Amino acid sequence: MIITNDFIPFHRAEITSQEINNVIDALKSGWISKGPKVVEFEEKLASFLNTKHVITCNSGTAALHMALLSMRIGPGDEVIVPSFTFCSSVNVILHVGATPVFVDINEDNFCLNISDVKSKISAKTKAIIAVHFAGYPADLKELSCLARDNELYLIEDAAHAFTTKFNNQYIGTHGDAICFSFYATKNITTGEGGALVVSNDTLAEKARLYGWHGISKNAWNRYTSEGSWKYDVMLPGFKYNMTDIQAAIGSSQLEKAEMMRNKKEKIASYYSENLNEISEFIKVPFYKKEVGLQHGWHLFVIRVKNNNFINRDEFIERMKERKIGLSVHFIPVHLHPYYKTNFPTSLPVTENIYDEIVSLPLYSNLTKEETSYIVKSIKEIFMGASR
Ligand SMILES: Cc1ncc(COP(=O)(O)O)c(C=O)c1O
Repeated sequence: MIITNDFIPFHRAEITSQEINNVIDALKSGWISKGPKVVEFEEKLASFLNTKHVITCNSGTAALHMALLSMRIGPGDEVIVPSFTFCSSVNVILHVGATPVFVDINEDNFCLNISDVKSKISAKTKAIIAVHFAGYPADLKELSCLARDNELYLIEDAAHAFTTKFNNQYIGTHGDAICFSFYATKNITTGEGGALVVSNDTLAEKARLYGWHGISKNAWNRYTSEGSWKYDVMLPGFKYNMTDIQAAIGSSQLEKAEMMRNKKEKIASYYSENLNEISEFIKVPFYKKEVGLQHGWHLFVIRVKNNNFINRDEFIERMKERKIGLSVHFIPVHLHPYYKTNFPTSLPVTENIYDEIVSLPLYSNLTKEETSYIVKSIKEIFMGASR
């Protein structure tokens, strides 16, 4: 991410002396791989989310992979997943040898459509992956019932949903496995990183093994005075662990997670109020204030209506000329060449929405001047083009 004075990047992580000093502390401690800071970060995350088992790892993708592995999902099994997500939500299903079954999303909140999920459950279905798109929670009440009634696992892809609440509780306490990403642009970051949250003791034990070569618990401390050189490999696992350097950043980020979310909510309200004035051209994201629901505000995705003088792609170019970086979340997975060839399907809402979506900058250290310049630029582009 290039940060210059005259370009407003799509994202800018809020890294202050807090994170920097904590990283220096990790570097000076002599532990730079998985060590005490990882253990501390896991404990802090568990207490923040009010949950039992948190397994940190080196990406949200690894968290998803560990979830599927620990559930023994594999060849012959089907996993229901939206196409309106980042490709890794689907790639991991293939990594375990199972088959992805794509479902469509709701036109309003971009989360998976429950009736389409119902229609795609088969005797082979083992799990549903629900993506909390942009930080808005999927309907966990309906999904939990569906999963329970059909004896399926409910996996939450919560890459966008750190600090999102459903039914007054943070995402992290509802499904069987909840997978967070701490990538650079996410609600809290460790640069690269992620965490898997599970409540079941057996799943937690399995996931820990899969995430660290299949080596039995706590062997990370084998080079300390308390550790032992002996260890056992219980299954062929992966090397997915987080490092103390990453955990040092994460612990500092966690302390300001709610503060950053609150700032983003204010920016989102400002965007919504102002951009609603040009609703003939663009549509602001759906946000129904419901009791117990808290939006995580990872993304602010507007829709550039198709009947405009300017289409979505032209709009992105015009904003770039004004030195504003935008992005698109997401190119639907089923439209990528590999999936188009191997898992062809038609998802009308997803396809229709894809042509119109564009994500505006949304981060806690976006200044008032920057926010108002972004809104002013959008208005000028559309009002100018309509004349
Ligand atoms: C919805 C979704 N799922 C999973 C991931 C993967 O997370 P990571 O990049 O940490 O592997 C992302 C990352 O962008 C994402 O947006």
